Amino acid sequence: MKFQFLWFLAGLCVMLFIGWIVFPYALYERREQPLQFSHKVHTETAGMSCDNCHAFKEDGRFTGIPALSKCMECHTDVIGTSPHERTLVDEYVKQNREIPWLVYARQPQNAYFSHASHVKLAGLNCDRCHGPHGTSDSLRTYARNRISGYSRDIWGNSISGIKTASWDGMKMDDCADCHNQHNVPNTCLKCHK
Ligand code: HEC
Ligand code: HEC
Ligand code: HEC
Ligand code: HEC
Ligand code: HEC
Repeated sequence: MKFQFLWFLAGLCVMLFIGWIVFPYALYERREQPLQFSHKVHTETAGMSCDNCHAFKEDGRFTGIPALSKCMECHTDVIGTSPHERTLVDEYVKQNREIPWLVYARQPQNAYFSHASHVKLAGLNCDRCHGPHGTSDSLRTYARNRISGYSRDIWGNSISGIKTASWDGMKMDDCADCHNQHNVPNTCLKCHK
């Protein structure tokens, strides 16, 4: 009896190991960002504000990640000693090539999301959905789900789907939960065009 129980425990441990460590490892494909970028250097050392790079256009549309022309306001030539800045100047600025950033928050094509409604109308903070990305010092590895093709940030960090923070996961239910709290109607065609 006791021996059987030990085998049961050993089996359980193996399954837990596979479920929690091997499976997530196999499920996600890791990709490095094309360039290392520090938000902290720009918001602290360079004294820039978020809307300096992430502005809303006159027509209300959000510009998203700034284009290379924004970086060239300061980085047409190397100004510091960082190897990442050298990469920026040599591989992108001098060759006039846009940086192919990987967007952690990227939603599937069929989901419609507008920053203007959430930031301007609802008055939500960037951190509510993105966490402390705006004060981070380096870019984490992007992880892509091999089955859905989506960024890991959609499902969230934990395989179980349990959230550790408001920005940990942005699935359909996460959008709908907040809408319910704010009495925003959740009709399919509002989010799916
Ligand atoms: C010098 C320009 C610059 C400034 C200033 C700046 N950002 Fe960014 N931001 C970027 C660039 C470049 C990226 C793409 C690389 C990355 O993911 O960080 C980005 C990406 C982001 C993303 C998208 C992450 C994703 O992929 O889902 C968020 C969120 C963000 N910034 C928030 C902020 C906040 C909040 C501030 C102000 C505290 C801020 N940024 C200030 C340049 C800037
Ligand atoms: C308003 C000026 C300004 C703009 C615009 C700007 N930067 Fe910078 N950047 C700085 C300053 C200042 C430093 C610090 C230089 C040093 O190392 O002393 C810096 C440092 C860097 C570095 C090296 C530090 C690090 O992050 O490892 C990189 C890479 C970089 N910037 C990328 C970018 C990119 C990409 C953009 C466009 C999205 C951009 N910068 C836009 C001012 C700017
Ligand atoms: C209600 C949640 C929410 C809030 C608040 C929010 N974002 Fe986002 N953000 C998202 C989602 C969802 C996406 C992915 C959109 C998509 O793929 O269509 C995104 C994408 C982005 C991107 C990448 C855009 C691109 O397409 O290149 C940047 C940059 C960004 N957000 C910055 C910010 C900044 C800066 C703020 C604060 C001013 C902010 N966000 C506030 C949810 C939010
Ligand atoms: C508040 C916005 C919102 C509403 C309302 C909404 N969805 Fe979604 N839906 C999303 C987002 C965001 C995703 C992508 C993230 C995910 O897979 O959870 C998604 C994903 C899906 C998917 C999976 C598609 C894929 O590519 O993975 C289906 C199917 C779907 N929705 C159907 C519906 C139906 C049917 C309704 C109405 C009953 C509905 N949705 C209402 C935001 C919404
Ligand atoms: C933290 C809360 C919160 C989260 C998370 C959130 N929303 Fe919203 N959303 C709101 C609020 C509040 C409004 C109403 C804004 C207004 O019109 O005043 C809104 C409005 C909308 C609208 C209607 C905007 C329009 O122009 O008609 C759409 C579409 C929408 N959200 C999609 C999404 C999708 C897709 C997601 C998830 C990827 C999402 N939202 C996540 C709070 C949220």
